[in-house]
Amino acid sequence: MKSIVVLISGRGSNMTAIAQALRDERWSARIACVIADRPAAAGLDRASEYGAATEVVDFRAFDTRAAFEDALASAIDRHAPDLVVLAGFMRILGDGFVERYTDRMLNIHPSLLPAFPGLHTHRRALEAGVAVHGATVHLVGRELDMGPIVAQAALAVRPDDDEERLASRVLALEHRLYPMAVRWFVEGRLLLEGERVVLREPRPGETRCLWAG
Ligand code: GAR
Repeated sequence: MKSIVVLISGRGSNMTAIAQALRDERWSARIACVIADRPAAAGLDRASEYGAATEVVDFRAFDTRAAFEDALASAIDRHAPDLVVLAGFMRILGDGFVERYTDRMLNIHPSLLPAFPGLHTHRRALEAGVAVHGATVHLVGRELDMGPIVAQAALAVRPDDDEERLASRVLALEHRLYPMAVRWFVEGRLLLEGERVVLREPRPGETRCLWAG
């Protein structure tokens, strides 16, 4: 049974999608703890509804990023997780923290990386006039929103998409993409070859690219 710690900052809808899939599909895994960097994170209540333990490591209580990350790492390591899942965790992580969880920390980002790392991805995608947009799950590397790509979900941008509509269409895709990628990790089916991720023994219909059209 694999142990997962999920880090959130806000509503936690990706965390909920993962918890629901884990339950429905009976993965050999458990969410040992959901940790938020702020007490007001709405996702904490959702985590409790799924029976997950919750903790807050409030970033405002620390003078430096290093002190915050030390406390966060201690909270995570108490659960000895096989996997750390960043699900809307909106903090820039230092090299030491990233290295501590090398090859066992996943992130989801609302763009087709390497395009649009950082914030306001949907607005920037619309401004750039892209025809295709989406979301990416990747292993966390040292650079912000970068690292080996596990899977991507893409959609065609519609003429009537505004920032809000595009965000909600992408989020619906994220809720399919992230559980799929976490499940592959839990099943030990993600192989890292250099900087590239390979899905071992893909089953019929399984693909690292979800296309919503
Ligand atoms: C998601 O759209 C996720 O991709 C994004 O934050 C949102 C969290 O929503 N993450 C990032 O921008 C990370 N760079 P959620 O709390 O409802 O899962």
